[in-house]
Amino acid sequence: MSGSVEDAKSQGYRFDARRLSMLNTMLERILKDIKPDKKEIERLTACSNELMSRLRSVVPKNVEIITAGSIAHGTHLKGSSDIDIFMLFPKEQDERAMEKKALEFAKRIVNRKKNESYEIKYAEHPYLRLFLGDLDVNADIVPAFKIRDASEMGSAVDRTQLHTEFIVSHLSEKQKDEVRLLKYMLEQHGIYGAEAITEGFSGYLCELLIYYYGSFAKLIEGFARLSPPVALYPTSRSVAIGKELGELVKRFGSGFIVIDPTDKGRNVAANVSIESLSRLALLSRELLKHPVRKVFFGPEYEEVDAFSKLSRFEKITGTKRYAIIMQLDDIAEDILWQQMKRLKNRLESELSRYGFAPMLSLQALEKDKGAIVFFIDRSAKHIDVVQGPSAFMAGASEKFARVHSARALSSVLKADKLVYLEKPKYATPEILIKVLLNRKQDIPTHIRKGSIKVLTGRMPNLYAQIVYQRLVFATSI
Ligand code: UTP
Ligand code: MN
Repeated sequence: MSGSVEDAKSQGYRFDARRLSMLNTMLERILKDIKPDKKEIERLTACSNELMSRLRSVVPKNVEIITAGSIAHGTHLKGSSDIDIFMLFPKEQDERAMEKKALEFAKRIVNRKKNESYEIKYAEHPYLRLFLGDLDVNADIVPAFKIRDASEMGSAVDRTQLHTEFIVSHLSEKQKDEVRLLKYMLEQHGIYGAEAITEGFSGYLCELLIYYYGSFAKLIEGFARLSPPVALYPTSRSVAIGKELGELVKRFGSGFIVIDPTDKGRNVAANVSIESLSRLALLSRELLKHPVRKVFFGPEYEEVDAFSKLSRFEKITGTKRYAIIMQLDDIAEDILWQQMKRLKNRLESELSRYGFAPMLSLQALEKDKGAIVFFIDRSAKHIDVVQGPSAFMAGASEKFARVHSARALSSVLKADKLVYLEKPKYATPEILIKVLLNRKQDIPTHIRKGSIKVLTGRMPNLYAQIVYQRLVFATSI
């Protein structure tokens, strides 16, 4: 997204009249493609009504059934039909007992005759994901405690009902459409969603940001000149300054804070990585200059021939690719991603320590298959240059010589300093990576140790595709 001589600053980080009208014309067109049509909305509403009434017929009177999430907010995208239904239990109940009962209720509404099946998922409370085969829709049936406000100390799921109240009562229809556009654009750029694999902007965060800035265009202007640390209060549409800002930054341990209108103790942007935030700032400045589809839709890529595209990247950057592919346990993606990240960071810091600092590191995951890839400068390493103390530091110099002379290939003087040239402990990154991966106790628990392979040549196609996809996002700034 670079290469333009004119910068966004010369525009005062604002859309001029011509560009604003270009932007709005473009957004209107894109909205037609991404907003669910009336039929789809009716179908989803009917479906969620039916599920709610089925649930109401099996739960006691004191359990309230509501819809939440983007369908209830009117901010969902076409085809992304995940219905979120909440069962709100009175708060007096014991949590474990509530969870148990909730799953029992939810299971009772599954209708096998209508080609429905389910899966139990684990979040704060276990919940049920229902697959409605005939309708081609999924519904999450999530238990929570009923709370009136955040002072009742609800969990994150318990607060969801409050989010719905806030969004439904504060966003205009136009703003809801602009949330859709924002979510869609961020998705195209790989930064939509709060999951660990994305570390981007959640749906609720997008809703709050559109509300805070008022419109898509204003949000773009705001992010074009965003200068963290920043803490936004959506409710009063104000920012924290001075001492208050400092305190918030310390409390939340982040430079980008969006206070939840339903709970001032929560930062809705907690999962946004500094990289995702930077990406949105760069994207916003680009969109300010060029409000065109190419910028909105982000990098184009096709997965065909992914492997040769990876090879081409090696060639133009003069790097060599070291891929570690692995089989993972069948558990929550967030946990797998974190474990892979831990392993990647450890390998990366060891590689750097031995003079093989990667030019680029990637991590990719699809279901139970993972890959960590390092692109490392191709120039082979033949010697380690170890610099010793000054020849005039008698004691230190003697000691240094004693330790190093046996291993050294050669020694030279540079001014007064003793320099030893040694055979490197690890001649190539591959050797070092293999040594590190052999320390079985350092491999996170959900990575199947026996399945790990280090590849420098051909890579199975699936791995090449998921790695290439990450490469496209990583290199399109
Ligand atoms: P979803 O992840 O389904 O997001 O969370 P969404 O807003 O419905 O957006 P899409 O269209 O499916 O992508 C449903 C609700 O759960 C709460 C929010 O209230 C959200 O509206 N939630 C979810 C959070 O508060 N934080 C999260 O990180 C995720
Ligand atoms: Mn949803």
